[in-house]
Amino acid sequence: MKNMLSEQETAMPAMAQGSLCTRVIAVTSGKGGVGKTNVVANLAVGLARAGKQVLVLDADLGLGNIDVLLGLVPRYTLEDVLCGSRSLSDIIIPGPAGIQVLPAGSGLPQLTALTDTQQLTLQTELEQVVDNVEVLLIDTGAGISPNVTYFAAAAQETIVVISPEPTSLTDAYALMKVLCRQHRERRFKVLVNMVKSQRDATQTFRKLDVAAERFLNISLDYLGFIPLDDYLPMAVIEQKAVTERFPASPSSRAFVELAKKVAEWPDPQLPKSTVQFLWQQLVPMN
Ligand SMILES: Nc1ncnc2c1ncn2[C@@H]1O[C@H](COP(=O)(O)OP(=O)(O)OP(=O)(O)O)[C@@H](O)[C@H]1O
Ligand SMILES: [Mg+2]
Repeated sequence: MKNMLSEQETAMPAMAQGSLCTRVIAVTSGKGGVGKTNVVANLAVGLARAGKQVLVLDADLGLGNIDVLLGLVPRYTLEDVLCGSRSLSDIIIPGPAGIQVLPAGSGLPQLTALTDTQQLTLQTELEQVVDNVEVLLIDTGAGISPNVTYFAAAAQETIVVISPEPTSLTDAYALMKVLCRQHRERRFKVLVNMVKSQRDATQTFRKLDVAAERFLNISLDYLGFIPLDDYLPMAVIEQKAVTERFPASPSSRAFVELAKKVAEWPDPQLPKSTVQFLWQQLVPMN
């Protein structure tokens, strides 16, 4: 995908110059339940507080729950957009700290079955929706199904969330192997969640990094860690982002650091029309 995008960039230098760039970050994991949705929600809030315009795309097919996590109630779904009764901007819900949430999850399985006209409508509307968005954060859901890998491959940055559990490492490795072999993805940023100490985090990262280097010939970027924190599940029960509900908690402080780090990444070099290409990757035209 990244190779394809650079080809497109070369093909359209005029569009690439001076257009607003939307950074597209996919948060994924391999294993379920390691904290992706909480990372997306809190990173989104942190980036918004750092002054960024953030849109969260809940792409966790069938199991999407970022709206539940944040106590938001979607009034419309993607189905309303597809039948023409609503526009994409109608289904976006305002979230904490000014973030926007596109709870697309439940409608996405049908995307491949859309007519050309429907696909074009969605694509055009997505272009409009992301017009002022600086960061598009995608919660991909778990696993290595095409639904997950498409999003991770289409994004400019992929954050792989792991926990110290061995199954989290094997599943993250399996996901990276698929992305590497099938999508020529070679850059992964790894965030270690639910650790007791920095030492545990670096040891956990190292295990994955060694395997990735040895068997996939890639080296991983260590993005940091989020500590295991009793306040986080308490915030989940209250349907609030922990950074909102318990801002002084250890995990909140780590999320703020993470957001600062991400906000300082150099600007993406891709044109605004990236979204169009991203969309084409997700929904190949019939
Ligand atoms: N840093 C943390 N400290 C303590 N508990 C945590 C932490 N991160 C996540 N959890 C717990 O793990 C649960 C699952 O988190 P979350 O829903 O974000 O995972 P997920 O990877 O999105 O899951 P799924 O794969 O099902 O979408 C949370 O409800 C919370 O109870
Ligand atoms: Mg989730």
